[in-house]
Amino acid sequence: MPGAPGKERAEKVYGPPEKPVPAHVGIIMDGNGRWAQSRGLPRTQGHLEGLKAAKRIVKAASDLGILYLTLYVFSTENWKRAGEEVGFIMSLIKKYLRGELNFYRENRIRIRHAGDPAGLSPDIVADLRTAAEDTKNFGGMQVILALNYGGRDEIVRALRRFAKDAGSGICPGGSVTEEAIRARLDNPDVPDPDLVVRTAGEFRISNFLLWEGAYAEYVISPKLWPDFTEEDLVLAVNDYRNRDRRFGGIVSAERGFNAGKETRPAEKARADG
Ligand code: FPP
Repeated sequence: MPGAPGKERAEKVYGPPEKPVPAHVGIIMDGNGRWAQSRGLPRTQGHLEGLKAAKRIVKAASDLGILYLTLYVFSTENWKRAGEEVGFIMSLIKKYLRGELNFYRENRIRIRHAGDPAGLSPDIVADLRTAAEDTKNFGGMQVILALNYGGRDEIVRALRRFAKDAGSGICPGGSVTEEAIRARLDNPDVPDPDLVVRTAGEFRISNFLLWEGAYAEYVISPKLWPDFTEEDLVLAVNDYRNRDRRFGGIVSAERGFNAGKETRPAEKARADG
């Protein structure tokens, strides 16, 4: 089973697994700019440290037995920033995609992309494709880089695919259902996030996984992203594990009557392998 060694470690950290670690964690990595500004450094330095934090957290998540990790790297709105800052972030992403391939190979981690490739430079699109292709058969954790990503934009692109498929007869009757839309999102095989963590103390969703995060648990960490550590990830996961997920239903198990009937994405993802 993918991530099995990590799962063992997670069980050690948390005790017996009646409450599983989340299968899919999304992270809104916020606070790079504030981290730099509070030290009198340029914002770019904050992004550099943010990249280091991302590397730490990818390893920690994989060790914990998390199966999918979506990192909000660059939103469809982030293009509004100064050209110099955007250029710096893009150069970091390029360096990351090329420089981390060995790490991903060693840890059997699969890289994927969420977002619109059409707005990205051809060299970044090529690097994303190479990384995805190179790692596509790995059975460890999957890292989804949300890059030129917006939740609304993803839904719009899914609806465009739907309209195209309906026009060409692929959707007979063209009936609009949740399944039909879900099947046309960027990574339809990836289960919905169980837990979304946002750093830097902001209580906002900022257009992140709008469709997929419908029933996610949200944890806000006060830490600025460059300061976010493996322990902070464990704290967020623990917070998640201490919550009752209801999916619009009634509390389950000994605490309610709907025991065993709810679908828990974390368990389902594991059961599905
Ligand atoms: C948010 O902080 C951070 C970003 C918009 C950029 C995220 C990029 C990285 C962490 C580096 C690349 C990572 C990978 C995995 C390739 P902010 O600038 O909005 O902070 P602020 O709100 O304090 O200004």
